[in-house]
Amino acid sequence: MKVNGIPTRTIRALDNGSAIEIIDQTLLPYRFEKRILSDWRDGVEAIETMRVRGAPLIGIAGAWSVVLAVKENPENGPLLAAAERIQCARPTAVNLVWAVQKMLTALLPREPSQRFDTAVKLAAQLTQEDVDTCRAIGDMGCSLIAERYQALRRPVNILTHCNAGWLATVDYGTALAPIYAAFERGTPLHVWVDETRPRNQGLLTAWELRQQGVPHTIIADNAGGQLMQKGDVDLVIVGADRITRRGDVANKIGTYLKALAAFDNDIPFFVAAPSSTIDWKLNDGKREIPIENRSAAEVLTVRGVDQTGHDASVQLAPPDEAAVNPAFDVTHNRFVSGIITERGIFAPTDLATRFQDQIANAGL
Ligand code: MRU
Repeated sequence: MKVNGIPTRTIRALDNGSAIEIIDQTLLPYRFEKRILSDWRDGVEAIETMRVRGAPLIGIAGAWSVVLAVKENPENGPLLAAAERIQCARPTAVNLVWAVQKMLTALLPREPSQRFDTAVKLAAQLTQEDVDTCRAIGDMGCSLIAERYQALRRPVNILTHCNAGWLATVDYGTALAPIYAAFERGTPLHVWVDETRPRNQGLLTAWELRQQGVPHTIIADNAGGQLMQKGDVDLVIVGADRITRRGDVANKIGTYLKALAAFDNDIPFFVAAPSSTIDWKLNDGKREIPIENRSAAEVLTVRGVDQTGHDASVQLAPPDEAAVNPAFDVTHNRFVSGIITERGIFAPTDLATRFQDQIANAGL
């Protein structure tokens, strides 16, 4: 997508894979800055601190971190130790483990001396596949918005939670991809953007939409239900960090409450995600998906800029106040109208039938 009119991707390799360039998302929406990672430990730090974030993007950042680990030492011992550290950098989004395991499966049968070239080629391939997959999700999902417009004959109001736009992927996004595709095709629409405390990923969504000229409004996290009751929301589209075989969805904390409110108000609730977000080994999301707990400090403070435009952090409550900070929640498949994937839009319980080949390839 474009930043100030310049086509930009969230991650790219420099010097044939000896370093990676990312957008430091901890500075957005206030400052747009790139950052260079030249050691796999920088990759782990960037994922843990959410300089790169969003399930598909942390998968790709994980793959390039493996490239940096191979550059440092391609022998089995150090490579496996680095890969283990990389894939554990965040626990909920399955894309990270998926990408690191794909890299290891390709690398381990090769001689250490051949591993760097193989790693660069595969990481570049996964990066391009992410772009193609997100574009396909956009193409598949934009019909949902066009159909709503045909029925309503006024701009379609879509609510989204967190950031599942191009910043959360290599390009285009997941939940925002159908919105961008519909907007490009001329479907009148407007997006309600949940601010998404405590990390305020909604502000990234608003920044993205603004860059592309898509009409949108930021709302407090608790406003969605009231807007739905008033008839101001026609459709909900969110992303996902892990989807189980039966279609339960882990996504940013607060997604579950939006799904409940949408269900109560007969509003379609769609999840957009690449098939790399589906964990075929898991079934019951509430019991089986690991939920990341982040620091209490994220709840007790809020970050922004002061009047001079400098970074400012405000303490909302005493720093020793008790606070818990689960970063994701799970929505049961019964609240999900459909899952928008690169292959089409499917009922959650149809995923396993539609992706039988992937299940077989995974030996499950
Ligand atoms: O904690 P984050 O910012 O990495 O969480 C991101 C989300 O929950 C997104 O909605 C999800 O990863 C889908 S991203 C395409």
